[in-house]
Amino acid sequence: MPTITFRQPDGAELRVDAPVGTSVMKSAVGADVPGILAECGGQAMCATCHVYVTDDRALPPVSDEEDEMLDCASAPRTGHSRLSCQLVVDEDMDGLTVLVAGEGP
Ligand code: FES
Repeated sequence: MPTITFRQPDGAELRVDAPVGTSVMKSAVGADVPGILAECGGQAMCATCHVYVTDDRALPPVSDEEDEMLDCASAPRTGHSRLSCQLVVDEDMDGLTVLVAGEGP
């Protein structure tokens, strides 16, 4: 099963088993990763699952829906911003590290 590491702004890390086919957000919520609130339950309507993905590996493109919601995130949007609920785990994500955006500065 792929593992994904969630890094907090303070550097603390939590490594989580992420079943293929689930979302990165659901993996985080299931492991009580701080800062991933997922208030809308994965509907791309809250941006409380915002993460930064600095890994260069190929990820699915940002949909229009995700793009719009990322503009509403409380932490600053960067070129690495993604909604973790829109990232479906596949085998290629094994070893991925994401930075939890949280509430921002
Ligand atoms: S859980 Fe609400 S946008 Fe991802």
